[in-house]
Amino acid sequence: MNIAVIGTGFVGVVSAAVYASFGNKVSGIDIDEKKVAALKKGLVPFYEPQLQDLLNQEQKSGRLTFTTQFSEGCSDADIILICVGTPSKATGEVDLQYVFSAADMLAPHLKKDAIVVVKSTVPPGTLDAVSERIQNHTATPFSVASVPEFLREGTAVHDTLHPDRVVIGSDDPAAVETLKKLHEPLEAPIVVVKPESAQMAKYAANAYLATRITFINHIADLCEHTSADVEEVIEGIGLDARIGSHYWYPGLGYGGSCFPKDVNELAHFSETVHEAPNIFTALRDWNDDRIPEKIKDFGHFVDGWKNKKIAVLGLSFKPNTNDMRVAPSLHVIPSLLEQGATVVGYDPKAVAEAQHILKSHPELKLTQSLQEACTGADVIMVLIEWPEIVNHDYSLYAKDSTQYFIDTRNQFSQNQVEKWGFVYRGIGRHGE
Ligand code: UGA
Repeated sequence: MNIAVIGTGFVGVVSAAVYASFGNKVSGIDIDEKKVAALKKGLVPFYEPQLQDLLNQEQKSGRLTFTTQFSEGCSDADIILICVGTPSKATGEVDLQYVFSAADMLAPHLKKDAIVVVKSTVPPGTLDAVSERIQNHTATPFSVASVPEFLREGTAVHDTLHPDRVVIGSDDPAAVETLKKLHEPLEAPIVVVKPESAQMAKYAANAYLATRITFINHIADLCEHTSADVEEVIEGIGLDARIGSHYWYPGLGYGGSCFPKDVNELAHFSETVHEAPNIFTALRDWNDDRIPEKIKDFGHFVDGWKNKKIAVLGLSFKPNTNDMRVAPSLHVIPSLLEQGATVVGYDPKAVAEAQHILKSHPELKLTQSLQEACTGADVIMVLIEWPEIVNHDYSLYAKDSTQYFIDTRNQFSQNQVEKWGFVYRGIGRHGE
């Protein structure tokens, strides 16, 4: 099949490369000339494991190309996938301008009976609006579908090749058959539903996972008022088949470009349709408040932040990505600096990103050397569980004076950290 993919972010580039690897001819389209120029040279404009190799392999085969021209990318395409960003407006409402502009730009170049698929996360009802916009620009017959994306950053190629399910939302039986064929090589269960249900399923999946994280964070907070250890509590409940032990690790709240945005959008939608307050408005507020509360709490633990040297380890929002959207570091670092601490930030991949995003804090030192960040630190604070950070030997940095080790991802054992010479603090496991 001939496929066009509009938008070359995580979802777009990964989808383009994976669909090409199934033998399809794929054209990636983006209006960002710089991104397309880099992709044409075979360079992925962000860090994502396995993607660079897959991209180069498919470019070499001639199946995968990139362009800024909709005429070039769309006019041959049997299927056009819209994979552009859908950020939130300040109100929490979803901003659909990029989806609509993609629809306007692809419309004049549609091939007869092409299928336009929206992969971007959009609220129920958006597919009708996309369809109307296309009809305003062309008389060519086409069909539409919603196929939401469930990949995670950091494991995007693996998730796309091995999805738990593919959800196809369409009222057009011929389009459903073609889309089933496209996804056949994945050998995943295919769920065919109404477009609105597919769109809501995407929000529901993310909101459910955000709820699980918030739930275990609240249990962790309660543990801190007792001698219970949240990790033992997780062991105690995880074997219950109704609950499971996956996706269950506590921390400073959820971040990234999806959970905060999607929960905010559901909260905003709930308010608009007079279903608020509900679980989504509560989730939004709890997650926003969590880091300030925890920084205050850790501040008491280390006897104040003023004049302390803090090594902040992990600047991206999760391991194996350089994406810093809604990363804990973006709240933690400015707060520590404001309270008079000296901060050295370390990340294996996100230092260049951090230099740009945190440039209004010239006093912040950033390094790609874990050793440099930790040397002389009064407090080591682990924000992200990068393997380099979790597997490091911190005995190298023991000093005579009291030093603290704050493990916001519960990746270390208290005994080990104490042996290294630090006073340990995790989440939901410090027992007094
Ligand atoms: C998330 C979903 O997992 C994907 O299924 C979805 O496709 C994607 O959003 C999206 O909508 O595009 P992602 O944001 O890449 O993927 O990352 P996750 O691994 O889900 O982590 C999100 C946040 O939750 C991170 O801040 C992570 O640290 C946090 N988290 C995750 C926890 O605090 N505890 C956990 O047990 C799991």
